[in-house]
Amino acid sequence: MKKHLMEKFINVFGNNKNAKVYFAPGRVNLIGEHTDYNGGHVFPCALSIGTYAVARKREDNLLRFYSTNFKRLGIIECSLDNLVYNKADRWTNYPKGVIWALKKKGYNVTTGMDILYHGNIPNGSGLSSSASIEILTGFVLKDMYNFSFDSIENALIGQFAENNYNKVNCGIMDQFAISMGKKNHAIFLDTANLEYNYVPITLENEQIVIMNTCKKRGLGESKYNERRAECEEALKELQSVINIENLGQLTEELFEEHKNAINSSVRTKRAKHAVYENQRTIKAVTALKNNDIAQFGKLMNDSHESLKNDYEVTGIELDTLVAEAQKAPGVLGARMTGAGFGGCAVAIVHKDYIDTFKTQVGTAYKEKIGYPCEFYVVDTSDGPTIL
Ligand code: GLA
Repeated sequence: MKKHLMEKFINVFGNNKNAKVYFAPGRVNLIGEHTDYNGGHVFPCALSIGTYAVARKREDNLLRFYSTNFKRLGIIECSLDNLVYNKADRWTNYPKGVIWALKKKGYNVTTGMDILYHGNIPNGSGLSSSASIEILTGFVLKDMYNFSFDSIENALIGQFAENNYNKVNCGIMDQFAISMGKKNHAIFLDTANLEYNYVPITLENEQIVIMNTCKKRGLGESKYNERRAECEEALKELQSVINIENLGQLTEELFEEHKNAINSSVRTKRAKHAVYENQRTIKAVTALKNNDIAQFGKLMNDSHESLKNDYEVTGIELDTLVAEAQKAPGVLGARMTGAGFGGCAVAIVHKDYIDTFKTQVGTAYKEKIGYPCEFYVVDTSDGPTIL
């Protein structure tokens, strides 16, 4: 891969003098969805699919970006002195946003760069291709300029760029999962205070299977910001009757006791999801630590149900894929993963049944939705590395 990427870099930028090759993973979230901007817990892991970069410093202040995934866009250029968001700059708004965020935080990027990106995360699949680019860019710049920030700070810089430059009001999960990834482990993260621990996920008889609806997320971003606003409003209403800072501080019982303070049935459902999903995530991690995979799978199924009925972020494609997966033999649990509105789902499947699973779920999905889904049996991975 390294040699192949270097060759591409030479084709695009003329030679590879002083160039280095880097990798950052993608992520899949096993449980704890739409909890990360509500002060709740998440349980994602970093994946062996992700984004590669070949990068070097320039002597002037020009930034030159190229992606093998968007070849027809060619090299997209921008000056270090003019790091403003520009829709026409397309995907390069992600790396530009990170360089902008670094400067805002006092890390002075003094020269331009040539960077070639190559990703093998399917675009729009909800496996965090954009956060992967952000974390990779932060990691490349840290290495090139000897910046002193750590991996958690890199995650925060990526999130800051996404929120303030690309204007998607995301939580910290994706950037944290990618920056802090650890092979064979998922990260149990409390998003209220960024306390975390690594939990081994080397399953004896089962495997994690990712299923892609192949429906691009489309309207996802505006709906995402809308859900977030609904939760913030519900929190304010609850704060009139109980002293809390976020929905993650509520148990199911406390929520039921005080939910009448929320003056809309829609907001009550949204807040209910945030509270119950957080508690489910805590229970799921306990189940996994106790080697109770069956219980973990059941909680995954409950999570999907709540995302479908209370949070309303699934849609016919994800619901069909998950329902078919849950019916298939050898499946312990299945749910949508990521923001929703299309993208991917994740299932825990007994190793002996993986082939039957793919055939059965794949056939049923195509019959009902009209186009095929995809399956990825993936490995977990460490965070960003120099290759
Ligand atoms: C997206 C966001 C994350 C998180 C998930 C939903 O992936 O980037 O911060 O909110 O959706 O759990």
